[in-house]
Amino acid sequence: MRSPKDFFAPLAVGAPEPVRQIPALPSRMIHFFDPSNEKMAAKAPDIAKKVDVLLGNLEDAVKADRKEAAREGLVRVAKENDFGSTQLWTRVNSLDSPWVLDDLITLVTEIGDKLDVIMVPKVEGAQDIHYVDRLLAQLEARAGLEKPLLVHAILETASGVANVEEIAGASPRMQGISLGPADLAASRRMKTTRVGGGHPGYLVRTDPVGDDLTEGRTTYQQDLWHYTVARMVDACVMHGILPYYGPFGDIRDVVACEDQFRNAFLLGCVGAWSLHPVQIDIAKKVFSPAPEDVAWARKVIAAMGDGTGAVMIDGKMQDDASVKQCRVVAELADALAA
Ligand code: GLV
Ligand code: MG
Repeated sequence: MRSPKDFFAPLAVGAPEPVRQIPALPSRMIHFFDPSNEKMAAKAPDIAKKVDVLLGNLEDAVKADRKEAAREGLVRVAKENDFGSTQLWTRVNSLDSPWVLDDLITLVTEIGDKLDVIMVPKVEGAQDIHYVDRLLAQLEARAGLEKPLLVHAILETASGVANVEEIAGASPRMQGISLGPADLAASRRMKTTRVGGGHPGYLVRTDPVGDDLTEGRTTYQQDLWHYTVARMVDACVMHGILPYYGPFGDIRDVVACEDQFRNAFLLGCVGAWSLHPVQIDIAKKVFSPAPEDVAWARKVIAAMGDGTGAVMIDGKMQDDASVKQCRVVAELADALAA
């Protein structure tokens, strides 16, 4: 049987040995569709040509009386199509729901050879991943599968955030973690009602000018998700798995969506969810490094030779640490071009 490690790219020559290795496949957008919706399921093969990951969603946003239809719809879509290099993922129902056991049994038995990753919502701690891990091992053995399914956790409960390091390292099946801002906001008793994105009331105000406390003050809206995304990125990097921003629910607001995705990209995330075709291009643009950034990175790498010492380029000092940052950008560009 192949090990989950077989899905990961070989180490770069001379790179320090990480705990795990980076998956070779791009996953800039995880595109959600509802397999219980026949119109959406019919469009899945065409959408699959435009995305890195197609995900059949069985959890939230699928009505309780459509859970079986969604499961069966996903089985049908997977059996009837070959998505080529596009990965096929699913989001199963949460572990405290009456549907998840049948989700896992049906999907692994029927289409376990077609699925790449199982996204598990509302993960609270390592124990949830251990449960899924053991169950998958039993179902894979019974179905005679050769390729182990990977697991992706959604970070969307306060205890999940508190336990994010142990979740990231809970199993060699762990592929990545996504922020789930909507459920997380509810779990934390935050006062938002949106799916992802910001809140105009969460701001900082500059100091007053002079004695009049109302004069000359400017406000700046803050990123509600900065702390959680940064924590998630550290936990993922520590365990060699991939961090993602999750959903952005205001489909019309493409500007805020791009800003939110870009903040996550700059902090280390490799992708985000797309809930509507308009978000596919936003994710592709944001999570692919800009050509001018790649050109600059290659210039620094070339100038730094063996990567040690210091050089001045265009008035900016570069050294061993900055060349490492440049390699991150250049290697991402190479991986996406491969
Ligand atoms: C995603 O599942 C979320 O709750 O934001
Ligand atoms: Mg959720």
